[in-house]
Amino acid sequence: MIGAGDRGAGAYVPLLLENPALGSIVAVAERDAGRRAAFAARFGLGEDACFSEAREVLEKPRFADFVLIATPDDQHVEPAMAALEAGYHVLLEKPMAVREADCEGLVAASERSGRLLQICHVLRYAPLYTAVKGILESGEIGEIVTIQHAENVSYWHYAHSYCRGNWRNREASSPMILAKSCHDLDLLYWWAGAEPVRLTSIERPTELCEKNAPAEAPGACIEGCPHEATCPYDAVSMYRDLTPLLLDLRKKSRLEADDAQPVDRPRVEGWKDWPVAVMTADASPEGIERALRETRYGRCVYRIGDNDQPSSQHVGIQFANGVSAGFTMHSTSCREGRTTRIDGTRGTLEAGFFNNEQHLVVHDHKTGRHRSVALDSVVGLHGGADPRLFRAFLEAVRGGREPGTTARESLWSHRLAFAADRCAREGIVACWG
Ligand SMILES: NC(=O)c1ccc[n+]([C@@H]2O[C@H](COP(=O)([O-])OP(=O)(O)OC[C@H]3O[C@@H](n4cnc5c(N)ncnc54)[C@H](O)[C@@H]3O)[C@@H](O)[C@H]2O)c1
Repeated sequence: MIGAGDRGAGAYVPLLLENPALGSIVAVAERDAGRRAAFAARFGLGEDACFSEAREVLEKPRFADFVLIATPDDQHVEPAMAALEAGYHVLLEKPMAVREADCEGLVAASERSGRLLQICHVLRYAPLYTAVKGILESGEIGEIVTIQHAENVSYWHYAHSYCRGNWRNREASSPMILAKSCHDLDLLYWWAGAEPVRLTSIERPTELCEKNAPAEAPGACIEGCPHEATCPYDAVSMYRDLTPLLLDLRKKSRLEADDAQPVDRPRVEGWKDWPVAVMTADASPEGIERALRETRYGRCVYRIGDNDQPSSQHVGIQFANGVSAGFTMHSTSCREGRTTRIDGTRGTLEAGFFNNEQHLVVHDHKTGRHRSVALDSVVGLHGGADPRLFRAFLEAVRGGREPGTTARESLWSHRLAFAADRCAREGIVACWG
């Protein structure tokens, strides 16, 4: 295990604690001493199996079957290359790299080595999207003509990660369309069933910038902002009370009118997980107050300064088999989630994927009927996809199954993201083939 942070410790490896017969973790490399110790304790690792740097463990002769890499985005390439060269199969968090040439290099390295390099495009393993793929393959909606898909990023998640957070500047991190939406571009490629030939894109610059800062807003929201009661981005309600997150989780899939209801502002105390954990390791009331005063997460969202991720981006893609797709990523949704509509020559499919609810309906043109598809209940983040992906990877490592997707296939989602960023910034069209 390389990088035992949020994803490394939480997304995949719990499956091995529940099902030891599937495999075991034999070593960890993690820079943070507290995280390393906590991980080692959970997996019963002795001191000789704990490393503070990826490099240290990968320099040793190979002693395991695979390496799971969940370091930050810009620290994927070096350990993944070293692991492939050392003969390990690799499960690598997305995005595979933050520069296109590095993505190409990683795919070439995995093909040279003959080892698996699987990128964590977890949505392919979400029951909802597996069901969508099954319906498309069954021919129920005929030939696919067009796909409309949207990643509706909530206003508060955008403010947290893409204005105040680590992905706020695309040169310093990577374009939001890669960091947030390479999963969606992978879905489009998978559903269309052919390689892309043309792409174009437009974007809207962020409105969360100094020139739109409300009058008399202080540098940090906690310093007595006069707009606290009306500003949806108020950091105090976001990180101390968690009101936006709680309101999001309570919403239903359709926007139902509740004009008659008083606006109830729920709050929670003592929350230690995301997004609070990103801001501070000390989730005590004093720790949160200090972080709200001293870190970027407490700042007025209009006064961050170097945030340049778009507030919306539209991408048009044509695939070699004639399927056309439109993808929208935007940042002001009342509710976090993905919505999809696929129209074919015989029917239409509509799907919604939210934190606490999913739906999938298929309409038949000839009969005028529609049916709801029953789905496995939502378990955990990503609709239960994380352990499914890990199980499939482990089976592929054992040689019992083909991997669900290859690094070369995952390269397309990254190429599409880099091209979309380029096209939107330069007003050009990208072509392949
Ligand atoms: N598949 C998904 O849907 C999904 C979802 C969220 C995040 N991610 C990706 O997962 C990756 C990890 O994200 P996270 O939120 O867990 O980050 P995180 O910061 O919580 O964890 C990363 C960990 O890597 C450690 N680390 C960094 N460099 C290291 C090195 N050289 N050697 C050893 N340890 C090192 C850090 O100390 C940290 O604990 C990112 O690339 C992120 O984009 C994927």
